[in-house]
Parts: sequence; structure tokens; C-alpha cells
Amino acid sequence: MTPIPAPRINDARAFGRVAVLMGGTSAEREVSLNSGANVLEALRARGVDAHAVDGIPALIEALRGKQFDRVFNILHGNKGGGEDGVLQGLLEALQVPYTGSGVLGSALGMDKIRTKQVWLSLGLPTPRYVRLAPGADVQAAAMALGLPVIVKPSCQGSSVGVSRVFSQGDLAAAVELAARYPGELLMEQMIVGGEYTVGILGDVALPSIRIVPAGEYYDYHAKYVAEDTQYVCPGLDGEAEAQMQAQALAGFRAAGCTGWGRVDVMRDREGNNYLLEVNTAPGMTSHSLVPKAAGQVGIGFEDLCWRVLETSLAQEDARP
Ligand SMILES: Nc1ncnc2c1ncn2[C@@H]1O[C@H](COP(=O)(O)OP(=O)(O)O)[C@@H](O)[C@H]1O
Ligand SMILES: [Mg+2]
Repeated sequence: MTPIPAPRINDARAFGRVAVLMGGTSAEREVSLNSGANVLEALRARGVDAHAVDGIPALIEALRGKQFDRVFNILHGNKGGGEDGVLQGLLEALQVPYTGSGVLGSALGMDKIRTKQVWLSLGLPTPRYVRLAPGADVQAAAMALGLPVIVKPSCQGSSVGVSRVFSQGDLAAAVELAARYPGELLMEQMIVGGEYTVGILGDVALPSIRIVPAGEYYDYHAKYVAEDTQYVCPGLDGEAEAQMQAQALAGFRAAGCTGWGRVDVMRDREGNNYLLEVNTAPGMTSHSLVPKAAGQVGIGFEDLCWRVLETSLAQEDARP
């Protein structure tokens, strides 16, 4: 793995007054509040003048009064939920620095179909897929891909609305479920094998994590409720590990993402990797994966929060 550079900032005062933006109104509000409380505590422990702000309207109000110098964004979710480029555009317009990806990376990362189109155009591996337009011939799509397939909303998260489909008779129900969520739908070939995720911090891919759910797959329950999901880090060894990290980093950059994030990857039984999606504001709860991967390379939670906060600095600000 590429060595992780030393922190660029030594004095907490260089960050100024920091808004830790959390909560909001998306379905992932509770997870975000949990992440946000952890981030706030960690930054304060390191002497950062950090304050909790719940949701975008409260942030706008505070910024009107020029109360903050920068934003640590730990909102999760789309539709103005903080992870889809809308918040990033607002902060760009107000010239307030913020952590993580900019407008393009955030918006693209929220749209699985368009992320895949970019990856495919660059020859990066991702499962074969069909975009399901309203009224699309779902049976024909499944025939083209070959069962089993995955049906999912293009712009959701947390495995919400995702179905595994093994027989033609179950296709309609899967499409109906995914269609309950806003935005487009897609069908993908199901990759049978192992599930991995790769955290990205600055210009470096962290060690992969292999996710071993006790149940059938990494659904909402396995992500947030079950205590018996196993996480193995690093998920692979040697050349295979290096290759997965390199592919994840390439996928992250290709999607215009910067700062920090997480790339989900499936690996089939022959050892071929397939990029699934990019997350631009990953969780920072005690169960979350980026903190696990960072810990593996000796970056504790406080250090991680500090380094993520550094992603809000323009390159030149950090020059000695
Ligand atoms: N093509 C696929 N093959 C196998 N499993 C998949 C595939 N797509 C999604 N999954 C499963 O569904 C989960 C959620 O899918 P993902 O694309 O990561 O969306 P999100 O995490 O945003 O809901 C994955 O973690 C994986 O367990
Ligand atoms: Mg995912």
C-alpha cells in the first residue's frame, strides 16, 4: 500500500470554527446523527473548535451570520440530503470550504447508472447492467443478463430497495419494490462470490475489508442491525489486495470523487473484481467501515477525523 502521508496541519486553530453538519431529513438521519456525534467528539478532543449543526437550513442560517469557517459534512443521503452535490454547490457559491467530494463527484456518486457508464467508458470493471426505463421489458432484460440478477434503485443507499432475483417469476416484485424509491432503476448481473469495500483517504486506498454477513447478503439488516456480520481487514493478500485497492482508487477518481469516501466491490469466484458504487459521505459510527480500515493502518478515529477535515483545505493552504 502507498504510505499514508503525515497530517498537513498541526495546529487546530488553522481550521477555524468548524460546523459538523449532520442529521438532516433523509432516511439516513439517525445514522448521520450517530456519525456526527462521533466526529464532533473526536475533533473537539483534538482541540478543534467544532460545533454540531443539524441539517442544511440550520447551516444556511448559521452561515448567514458568518459563524463558521468550514464544514465537516457527515450528512448521508440524496435529494438535498447532503451527499448528492446540492449542498456542495451551495457551499461553493458561498465560498465555504467543506470536506469530501465536490459537486460533480457527489452528484455522480449518487447515481449508480451514470457512475457505471463512466467506469465502462474507461474500461473499469463493473457488473453488466440494463437501465430499466418505465415500462421496460423486464423479462427481456433478465434474459439478456442471465439469471440471477440484482434489481436496485439507481439513487438509493443502505441496500434499500435492492433485491436478488433467481427466477423469472420474482422479477416483477423486485421491480415493484425498487420503483417505490425516487429516480431510475437498474438490473445487474449478480456477482456470486465475496463482498468487499475499500475506503479512500486523500490519495490513498486503505486496506480492503471483506464483509461476511451471517445471512445471505449485505442487506439493510446486516448493515445496521445484525451484530454477527464479520469484517476481515485486509480482505485479501499480496497482489490481489494491491489490485483491488488500485481498481477502487481508479473508480473513485474516475467518478470525479475527491477527499475521502468508500468504494463497494464484488469479487467473483475466479478472482475478478467488479466495482458496484461509490459512497462520498460514508458512515463514521462504531460499526462503520472506513474507521475499521483506517485503524488497520494505524490511523485511529480522532486522527481519521482530523485527516478528513484536512480534505476541506485547498492544496495550497496546506503548503508549508
Ligand atoms: N451486481 C451485484 N452482484 C451481487 N451483489 C450485489 C450486486 N449489486 C448489489 N449487490 C448487493 O447489494 C448490496 C447493496 O448494493 P449497492 O450497489 O452497494 O447499493 P447501496 O449500498 O447503495 O444500497 C451490496 O452491498 C451487495 O451485497
Ligand atoms: Mg453499497
